Amino acid sequence: MLVRLTYASRASHSVSAELIREILDSSQRNNPARGLTGILCCNADIFLQALEGPRDAVNALYNRIGEDTRHKDLTILDYAEIDARRYANWSMGWAGAKQVNRELFLKYSGSDRFDPFSMSAAQIGNLLLELSNTATAIKSPVLG
Ligand SMILES: Cc1cc2nc3c(=O)[nH]c(=O)nc-3n(C[C@H](O)[C@H](O)[C@H](O)COP(=O)(O)O)c2cc1C
Repeated sequence: MLVRLTYASRASHSVSAELIREILDSSQRNNPARGLTGILCCNADIFLQALEGPRDAVNALYNRIGEDTRHKDLTILDYAEIDARRYANWSMGWAGAKQVNRELFLKYSGSDRFDPFSMSAAQIGNLLLELSNTATAIKSPVLG
């Protein structure tokens, strides 16, 4: 049984390239063995992440991530059983500020500000799918 969980959170402190690198390093280290894939994007101080894989593994990872003090205000935006993965290519794809741009926000929300907390599950899904076309799995992402 595969599920996809999508959540947003706010960074506890301003997001540095080092923090992103640490998160992607953890993802690359842990996710493949657990059958987990996904995509993570970040703009200013907001994270948006989709986790997909076996239900037990997704739930366990979400609970672990929820205990991470580097972010707060975790809000589940969508949780669904799925027939197939969308982000099978990545242990954790990364879409930085270059990809996460205002045109895309305006396309899928009421304004050009990145505010996943106010978007519908369908809008978030479309936004992430579009981001996944340009996302990368790089170890040292460049913010900005
Ligand atoms: C926004 C965010 C996303 C994260 N995503 C993942 C993830 O996909 N996989 C993962 O193993 N850890 C992720 N982490 C890190 C975990 O909270 C935790 O620090 C890590 O899994 C600990 O494992 P490690 O000791 O191997 O680094 C994320 C943390 C944050 C703040």
